[in-house]
Amino acid sequence: MAVKTEEKLVIAMPKGRIFEEAAELLRKAGVSLPPEFDDSRKLIVPVPEANLEFILAKPTDVPTYVEYGVADIGVVGKDVLLEEGRDVYELLDLKISRCRLAVAGLPDWKPSGGTPRVATKYPRVASKYFREQGQQVEVIKLNGSIELAPLIGLAERIVDIVSTGRTLKENGLVELEEIMPITTRLIANRVSYRMKSEAVDYIYEKFASIVEES
Ligand code: PRP
Repeated sequence: MAVKTEEKLVIAMPKGRIFEEAAELLRKAGVSLPPEFDDSRKLIVPVPEANLEFILAKPTDVPTYVEYGVADIGVVGKDVLLEEGRDVYELLDLKISRCRLAVAGLPDWKPSGGTPRVATKYPRVASKYFREQGQQVEVIKLNGSIELAPLIGLAERIVDIVSTGRTLKENGLVELEEIMPITTRLIANRVSYRMKSEAVDYIYEKFASIVEES
């Protein structure tokens, strides 16, 4: 049955790694996404038949849009959710885009004197992890291509997402420790959750039934 919410909802979707699987999940849930949804350069895609509007955002910005209420609902990786630390409700584990956050480095890496450096896109998560391990490290924030850091001597180790492991392998790096498994989550704005509860619940139920089936 085609999805249509009572009240209009804005949903923030991350472009990139998660996008394809998330769009597939939406279609399975009965949201009639236009074919150009996947390839368009448009940043706002209304789907009036479903009473939904999609914001196609940079993944790290999804929790920000949802916290500030410009999106009622968001689709986001647990990695980004933990790193951003935004005040949002986590509604559901969508169980897609499975990967893991891990520590990686060169195979011959050994602790040496001084404070070792760790490069990552996830400084908050990495700092917490090493603090809990009782290890003192200097965390260096990078915005991408993290695997470069040990190769060019910026940092001894990295904290990054490992999915297929191909990027590590092709760059001669190895996974040293798994920090945590990661999946994609459905999140909601706290006010929307109360004020538009019927519509939010409706979308939640649609997603939940698809997740259960798969
Ligand atoms: C992510 C991650 C790794 C890679 C892991 O990067 O940061 O580099 O994917 O995937 P794999 O284990 O399947 O090789 P992304 O493609 O998101 O780009 P980035 O390097 O700009 O962060």
